[in-house]
Amino acid sequence: MLDTPSRVTVEAPPMTGAPIDASHAARPNLLTVADAKAMSLAEMTTLFKDHINPGQLHFMKLLGFHKVKIESASGMYYTDQNGRKILDFFGGFGSLAFGHNHPRIIAARKAFQDEDRHEIAIAFMSQYASALAKNLAEIAPGDLDMVFLGSSGSEAMEAAIKVAERAAGPKRPKIVYAENSFHGKTKGVLSLTDSELYRGEFQLTGNTVKVPFGDIEAIRKAFETDPEIGVIVLETIQGGGGIIEAPVEFWRQLRALCDKHGVLWVADEVQCGMGRSGRFFAFEHAGVVPDVTALAKSLGAGKTAMAAMIASRKVYMKAYGTPKSAMIHAQATFGGIGEACVTAIEGLNVMYDEDLLGNTERVGAYLIARLNALKDKYPQIIKDVRGRGFMVGLEFQDFSQTLPALLRPMVGLLDDKLKGSLSGFVGAELLRDHNVLVAFTEYNRNVIRLEPPLICGREHVDEFITALDKVLGRGIVRIVRDFIGSQAGK
Ligand SMILES: Cc1ncc(COP(=O)(O)O)c(C=O)c1O
Repeated sequence: MLDTPSRVTVEAPPMTGAPIDASHAARPNLLTVADAKAMSLAEMTTLFKDHINPGQLHFMKLLGFHKVKIESASGMYYTDQNGRKILDFFGGFGSLAFGHNHPRIIAARKAFQDEDRHEIAIAFMSQYASALAKNLAEIAPGDLDMVFLGSSGSEAMEAAIKVAERAAGPKRPKIVYAENSFHGKTKGVLSLTDSELYRGEFQLTGNTVKVPFGDIEAIRKAFETDPEIGVIVLETIQGGGGIIEAPVEFWRQLRALCDKHGVLWVADEVQCGMGRSGRFFAFEHAGVVPDVTALAKSLGAGKTAMAAMIASRKVYMKAYGTPKSAMIHAQATFGGIGEACVTAIEGLNVMYDEDLLGNTERVGAYLIARLNALKDKYPQIIKDVRGRGFMVGLEFQDFSQTLPALLRPMVGLLDDKLKGSLSGFVGAELLRDHNVLVAFTEYNRNVIRLEPPLICGREHVDEFITALDKVLGRGIVRIVRDFIGSQAGK
């Protein structure tokens, strides 16, 4: 390692028109890894504002997240700069199935590094990518056998749409998607993400048809009247929409309708898959199999970016099955990178060795039962408890009309995102006073999303419920008044 900055003199002629600058090879003023680790909260805030997302800081301040610097994380907990342990019921929107720094996953990664293994899997075939693909095909039901590896949920969903669109063929270019859907923010899937905010003013593809989520009659009508429809894309459980499920019967009828009309069904399992619902794939609850699906988030076992599109062999071969079409699809630079594959392989093994699916089903049911008891205790605050496994939505009543007249104008002064919403106030108080982290919901500001790691035990549920009970027990007026007070000077 160089202990002084390198100053290499390059004798090459300057590029045409470029001024000669002797300092062009000088070392820029770079921060080191040690600098990053030791950074103060104030420095972090400045750099976040200057180089990442100044607007986002505004929301962090509203919720009190700007006061926290995480120093380490283990299992169900973060530890902040003051040594405070924070219970993680947010779980990175479903990215932390194995909790933080699961010892088996860390050990697999360390061993891989110590053995000088290779990472990039473009030139040669990769034993790691092959093993991961085989594992996913083994777990996935039916003939969901063909795997594309990528790095994000959006990328996996892009690949899912592409494989389905090619298999459907050029005469059936239309894609059905659902109200309140979230499939990612990259340019292609943005056309299937039902958010005016995220769509901004981007040019989207015009070949889409929107239907209400879970409405089989609307889908039947669309399929019957528009022969150009070739693909339907649905989250099996809507996450960003506020944990919305469709009944088992809906999925069975959907499968039958797709078969009847030759429409391909793409199931987005980026958030609800990887065991979060108590089955590996949420569609397994209905006993039906889609034509294409996508996983991400927890596939990286909380340590890396890993995503997969899994297509039925029939669909895949139709889309990319010949040498000529194979290269249309071929993998991305970082698709199937070695250590990420090993991390995912170990994660999948841990999931079954530790019976995380069984734990999710049992403890998830316990969480929902305890939340329902709180709903009975605070009917004027909690409107609904829904979901399954560790994909749970807690919806609050809209208090904007029930709040005393005195407080209403003050709430009106708050940011648009928080008006009428208790979830922001409750979430902020849970973090500030009770060391519990929960997640907010993109499209429904009255819903808190609970997506703890699948290793969550009853004791963690008890800890969370005790905290929530204490917050709710103070009553809406005090929760709102304190929150408004906490915003003073921000
Ligand atoms: C259902 C669903 N699909 C796709 C995505 C996009 O995943 P990513 O953020 O990894 O691109 C998300 C992310 O939250 C999601 O919840």
